[in-house]
Amino acid sequence: MGKLDVHMSSERMDWETPHEFFASLDSKFDFTLDVCAGADNTKVELFFTEEDDGLAQAWNGRCWMNPPYGRAIGKWLAKAKLEASDNPACEFVVCLVPARVDTAWWHDNVMYDATLILFVRGRLTFVGAKAGAPFPVSIVVFETGGPPMFQAITREGEMIENEG
Ligand SMILES: C[S@@+](CC[C@H](N)C(=O)[O-])C[C@H]1O[C@@H](n2cnc3c(N)ncnc32)[C@H](O)[C@@H]1O
Repeated sequence: MGKLDVHMSSERMDWETPHEFFASLDSKFDFTLDVCAGADNTKVELFFTEEDDGLAQAWNGRCWMNPPYGRAIGKWLAKAKLEASDNPACEFVVCLVPARVDTAWWHDNVMYDATLILFVRGRLTFVGAKAGAPFPVSIVVFETGGPPMFQAITREGEMIENEG
């Protein structure tokens, strides 16, 4: 598989947020920190790079997070949840993540702890992509406040109690 093919595939992990989409969110949330970025794709003047390791830093202020969509995505959601709940200097974290509502990371970190979840209608076309993403996306917000009223159910139809 050539380099271009990798970039167009659903395996790509560094999907850059579409500029218009971000600008609209920024006008509502007024972000002060991009917790995972590079100098070439950051959405906020202040940002952490892979070298800084955003996962090892304190996230202060109004945070934007579009994490790498690889296996570590659960760690990013867990960190976002933790910073919003345990770090008084963190006002909130707004995350752009695939709407993978059947995954462990969604159930462990998003479902009971997010204070707002926005499901994007249609598919986002990420920067540099020729077409809409091959997965649905959502905006997940963590801040101190009441969790949404969601509950999980198994494939056998048993309600799962929230132990988180
Ligand atoms: C999906 S891109 C998002 C870029 C940009 N923030 C945006 O919203 O378009 C994820 C970015 O996280 C960076 N990254 C990967 N691991 C990281 C880490 N441990 N700490 C901080 N940034 C990291 C990647 O280099 C990449 O630029």
